[in-house]
Amino acid sequence: MPNDLNIDGYKKLYSGKIRDIYEYGQKHLLIVTSDRISAFDFVFQEEVLGKGSLLNSMSIFWFKLTKKIIKNHYVDKKPEVDPSLISRSMIVEKTKVIPVEAIVRGHIAGSAWKTYQENGSINGVEITHKLNEYDKFSEPIFTPSTKGNKDENISISKMKDLVGEVITNKIIKASLDLYNFAYRYSKDRGIIIADTKFEFGLNHNRELILIDEIFTPDCSRFLKLDSNGNYDLDAFDKQYFRNYLRDNNWNKNQIKIPLEVKNKLMNKYQVAYDLITKKYE
Ligand SMILES: Nc1ncnc2c1ncn2[C@@H]1O[C@H](COP(=O)(O)OP(=O)(O)OP(=O)(O)O)[C@@H](O)[C@H]1O
Ligand SMILES: [Mg+2]
Repeated sequence: MPNDLNIDGYKKLYSGKIRDIYEYGQKHLLIVTSDRISAFDFVFQEEVLGKGSLLNSMSIFWFKLTKKIIKNHYVDKKPEVDPSLISRSMIVEKTKVIPVEAIVRGHIAGSAWKTYQENGSINGVEITHKLNEYDKFSEPIFTPSTKGNKDENISISKMKDLVGEVITNKIIKASLDLYNFAYRYSKDRGIIIADTKFEFGLNHNRELILIDEIFTPDCSRFLKLDSNGNYDLDAFDKQYFRNYLRDNNWNKNQIKIPLEVKNKLMNKYQVAYDLITKKYE
């Protein structure tokens, strides 16, 4: 993993594309969110300064706000790490990760938009009415995928085969409740959450809890509302970077990411963060 971080005194268990996970006592983990950036499952050597700290703060904001909907892994204690790492560190409950990504879509985008255009269906479910990109569904839909090196969209019945019916039903309910709550909350503050992804795990009591990151611009699609309540298609999330790669015929190699592109991406993340977390006076 490029730019892997070793922290004195902590044993590293795992490096994800963006996060480094360390042991923190028996029941806890220390998650340090790096400034790494990934797209299309490729991790870039170059980093985007400040991204890790923004993602960490945003997840903490949402974990605190949504804990009544479902318990989550966030532990509200200051991590004992070097001060330079505090802003991107979080102590969490250790879990056994459920190997499914719980995706909720309120508007059609991304891989759902792709398969809808190709064959008129989303995760195997036929869509009979005509949709344009980013159109709102009549109800949010739950479209799981497998979690691994290559995420693959699956049906709900396939998810039940993989993780069981009880867990599947609990995950669907929690995911839709979280999405509906956050959709309204963000819309009031000028951001539409078009879609998002959750992860869940089982803690030491075998309780199903929300883990990883939540409602960040890395794991969600954000559109900005104008003063008339309309949104445009210039997304305030990682889509800007994916588009940059596509427009420049990127061929899955390390590249020098222009400073202007990194700055623009961070500005977009910051706009989403500032709007969503702002308090009404
Ligand atoms: N509370 C938790 N208990 C156990 N594992 C967790 C917990 N929270 C997050 N994780 C795992 O830590 C990793 C986070 O790292 P990161 O977000 O960089 O991974 P990724 O590269 O996106 O994910 P993946 O491992 O799925 O490819 C994920 O694998 C996630 O499932
Ligand atoms: Mg992740």
